[in-house]
Amino acid sequence: SQIVDFRGTHQAGIATPAQDRLCFAAFDVTTTDRTQLEAMLGTWTFAAEAMTKGRTVPGDAGDLESPPNDTGEAEGLKPGNLTITIGYGASLFDSRFGLAARRPTLLKPLPQLPKEDLDPGSSDGDICVQACADDPQVAFHAIRNLRRLGTGVVTPRWMELGFGRTASTSPAQATPRNLMGFKDGTRNIDARDAAVMGQHVWIGTEEPQHWVRGGSYLVSRKIRMLLEQWDRDNLNDQQNVFGRTKATGAPLTGTKEFDTPNFSAKDASGETVIPMDSHVRLAAPENNQGLRILRRGYSYTDGIDPVTAQLVGGLFFLAYMKSPDQFVTLQRILGRHDALNEYIKHVSGGLFVTPPGLPADKDWGSQLF
Ligand code: HEM
Repeated sequence: SQIVDFRGTHQAGIATPAQDRLCFAAFDVTTTDRTQLEAMLGTWTFAAEAMTKGRTVPGDAGDLESPPNDTGEAEGLKPGNLTITIGYGASLFDSRFGLAARRPTLLKPLPQLPKEDLDPGSSDGDICVQACADDPQVAFHAIRNLRRLGTGVVTPRWMELGFGRTASTSPAQATPRNLMGFKDGTRNIDARDAAVMGQHVWIGTEEPQHWVRGGSYLVSRKIRMLLEQWDRDNLNDQQNVFGRTKATGAPLTGTKEFDTPNFSAKDASGETVIPMDSHVRLAAPENNQGLRILRRGYSYTDGIDPVTAQLVGGLFFLAYMKSPDQFVTLQRILGRHDALNEYIKHVSGGLFVTPPGLPADKDWGSQLF
């Protein structure tokens, strides 16, 4: 039906099937009045719920003397499986709104990680909104209208457009390819598996802040790919960077995409077939005490670099997990040893807590305060 339920145990946009397009925005709160923030989150909730059903932002009376409530560009378009997922950054829980006592335990700035140089101006933020849909205009419309409804309360800090989801969140979806041309998401968590989601993704009873149980931590990373360098690299080397075959996505020790990688297999010269510094070896749960995350990223492009005339693009990495330590542990290893580092650069990032889904009688304001 192209409509994803807005309310439920968990927020839509995490375990629900990844759509093709993304519009992601981070906002800073500008008001100091907490009642204004709470009221805006209420308004956002009802607007978001309406938009996910393919309706316009509520309240238009057709008054010719005032601007319409809804900006109008999604009129006549299908709902496109729109999901709108909200998250809160650590900065929201400072002294401004009396939220310090409600700060989720693990929500604090991430440590400095190896080889990263993130731009603070396009990182983090008080509130984030992830809008995903199968139609880019539907996703953009959602962010634009929330931004408008937030006038005087929040101001946009950064925004990212994504295309071509780079991860499947269930094997029912064909695995898409990232801008390096490799299938991405083959061994991602199957988000339909409630037990695995409970173990690795949803915040559980270990969290003393009851209000975020059933939610998840979201790590965002804008990772630029050095595409011209990559495109000059030979196929054998490209495959060794990931430890997978480009055409089929199979591990270098297998023939089919979903074959289990054999990390101990050696070739005639005694070298491991899946190289020691390959991305999948370093990231695999087998080599990280079972550690897993739910990846839900998108490709992005920022056009042409005005100085070098190179195409600027890469992966807008989004991942959900029950503790930010899962990302930190992985990135400490990848940042140091991953063969992929020669071809990528982390340029900005964010950490947010996404609260659980809303029951019928709640909105984002009453859930937060
Ligand atoms: C696997 C690409 C960054 C975590 C993969 C795969 C590809 C890929 C092609 C193999 C297919 C699959 O199982 O999905 C990339 C690219 C990146 C990037 C192009 C940067 C531009 C990251 C980062 C993390 C990460 C920053 C986490 C900190 C993982 C994990 C797997 C994986 C956990 C699954 C490994 C396994 O179980 O076999 N990635 N990735 N990736 N990646 Fe990345």
